[in-house]
Amino acid sequence: MILVTGATGTVGREVARQLAADHAVRLMSRTPARPAVSGPRVETVVADFARPDSLARALSGVRAAFLVTCHPAEPHDERFLEAAVAEGVGHVVKLSAAVVEDDTDDFLTLRQRVMEEEVRSCGTGWTLLRPRAFMSNTLSWADSIGRDGTVGALYGNASNAPVDPRDVARVAVRALTERGHAGRTYTLVGPEQLSARQQACILGDVLGRPLRFREWTVREARERLAHGYPPPVVEALLKRAALQAGGGKTLRGDALASLTGRAAGTFRGWADDHAHCFPGS
Ligand SMILES: NC(=O)c1ccc[n+]([C@@H]2O[C@H](COP(=O)([O-])OP(=O)(O)OC[C@H]3O[C@@H](n4cnc5c(N)ncnc54)[C@H](OP(=O)(O)O)[C@@H]3O)[C@@H](O)[C@H]2O)c1
Repeated sequence: MILVTGATGTVGREVARQLAADHAVRLMSRTPARPAVSGPRVETVVADFARPDSLARALSGVRAAFLVTCHPAEPHDERFLEAAVAEGVGHVVKLSAAVVEDDTDDFLTLRQRVMEEEVRSCGTGWTLLRPRAFMSNTLSWADSIGRDGTVGALYGNASNAPVDPRDVARVAVRALTERGHAGRTYTLVGPEQLSARQQACILGDVLGRPLRFREWTVREARERLAHGYPPPVVEALLKRAALQAGGGKTLRGDALASLTGRAAGTFRGWADDHAHCFPGS
């Protein structure tokens, strides 16, 4: 049995889909949500990283687990790993982030480094996945595209190497089901350096309507982020954005293609497949 946490989220949902055809999988969510896939070998479990008793139930009989946590200030990884060790799980594949390799000491990155160390030292087999920014982050532009055909971002010309979450899921599935990935850390980058402005241009092309790009000031970005995050997280995200603007998030490594046996997906390809998620397409 393979447990997929974050099974209603961007990467976990895709991991679930890819695993379900050939493996027994258990999909974890805090609510009895509609599962990403169904089938004779797919089961669901309601569990919460904040409730250790629920984790023991989720991990019972599990040989490998995909770990996605989203609240870095909470000891979710620690609780999950403790339960995984107690239940005799053999291998944990953790979704981390490439930023841990960057030259930054913001609150979120420091915490992500600690979480990685928890995984390395907990006693199970482990694999760490470190993706760059997900291409799917651009889904957050859907509202303003629908409203007035604009997209906005801080530091519009700053490059990242966005990665298709489906590729991240492919690597996760390999690590969860094949030998040879224990004790390995994979940095997963997309095939091209792209700025937010360039992504907006490609997306507009795919949607058949040019999108106007509006660069946010730092003050505006701070105000917007404050609607969704507490102050330490806001400041960490701004610090990371400044790092990117200074060229600190460049392409590194080609692990993805060699791990999946196929070229990393392009942003245009992702946008083609997700055009229906944006208004007016
Ligand atoms: N976005 C990026 O560009 C990027 C880049 C690199 C790395 N990452 C990393 O990717 C991770 C996020 O992955 P994602 O984008 O696939 O997730 P996501 O789409 O944000 O979904 C979050 C998932 O976590 C589950 N969840 C939230 N709180 C939970 C809790 N207390 N207990 C149990 N489950 C909980 C949610 O399930 P329910 O709501 O159904 O319970 C949901 O399935 C983060 O660790 C982030 O650092 C993101």
